[in-house]
Amino acid sequence: MKELSLFEEPIQGKPFLKWAGGKGQLIDAISAHLPNMDNIDTYVEPFIGSGAVMFWLVSNYPNIKQVVINDLNTELVNLYQIIKYDVEGLITELKALDSEYKARPTQEERSEYYYQIRVEYNARDLASRERNVRLAALFIFLNRTCFNGLYRVNGKNLFNVPFGKYANPKICDEDNLRNDSALLQKVEILNGDYAETLQYLSERTFYYLDPPYKPISETSSFNSYSSMSFDDEQQIRLKGFCDAINAHNGKFMLSNSDPKSVDDTNTFFDDLYRDYNINRVLAKRNINAKGNKRGEINELLITNF
Ligand SMILES: C[S@@+](CC[C@H](N)C(=O)[O-])C[C@H]1O[C@@H](n2cnc3c(N)ncnc32)[C@H](O)[C@@H]1O
Repeated sequence: MKELSLFEEPIQGKPFLKWAGGKGQLIDAISAHLPNMDNIDTYVEPFIGSGAVMFWLVSNYPNIKQVVINDLNTELVNLYQIIKYDVEGLITELKALDSEYKARPTQEERSEYYYQIRVEYNARDLASRERNVRLAALFIFLNRTCFNGLYRVNGKNLFNVPFGKYANPKICDEDNLRNDSALLQKVEILNGDYAETLQYLSERTFYYLDPPYKPISETSSFNSYSSMSFDDEQQIRLKGFCDAINAHNGKFMLSNSDPKSVDDTNTFFDDLYRDYNINRVLAKRNINAKGNKRGEINELLITNF
């Protein structure tokens, strides 16, 4: 296993998944709005998803003492734990899946294999919280070979994304997995509701909050990462969480969609976060908003500093 050392080039990790709402392309905007990191000891990311911001931050600010990540998605959290504790076991499983898949030359045969793996994934023991290397490998395999790398489940928490016809998907990116594993050694990984991360709050804590976005158009209404929906009431509950951080002089940055970019009169977040700093940043999104042919649209970065 790679170890972090003060004397070597810092390790650069990047997400091991494709993820709806992935923040890779917003890193520049986010880095321009960070708090003074000299005053931060603890970084908390309660909606980790594919972790684009966390991997970037941990790679570029190796002096942060404590890093905590969380997600409600138990299978995703299992994957993070396996990468942290058993990355070699994961790589072995993934290589086996990769050879099985690529031994099938036609899309029809690959599609059949994909659905077979999806059945195996859906037969998982949903109650089990034990770390499971096979389940972690199936998660990455499905993410790399399914339609658009989506993660969508039905009300019974069964993964239901169809096959995606890729010519040569990279199923096992072992160098990146090992880099991520090295970075995760200093990261505490939790599986629960975001509110449980409030216990890490102090004046020297920075929270980056990237919840499921408020849908702003018919075509962008995908936010079912888990079988629980994140509706307006949930957005309002999250504002209460931000208030709690602020009341204890912690720092937060929150990302969300900007409903105003498709409807001038929709000031939902402007009203909700009127006591904070609301920044608008441009993001490329795969949506059909009016007057936005290139798919560039404003998103919100809200901070209390
Ligand atoms: C927009 S995604 C985060 C994207 C991430 N920043 C990235 O770059 O990939 C939102 C995440 O929040 C998780 N989630 C939804 N409701 C949650 C809750 N109540 N508590 C914690 N996580 C939740 C979802 O499982 C999903 O992974």
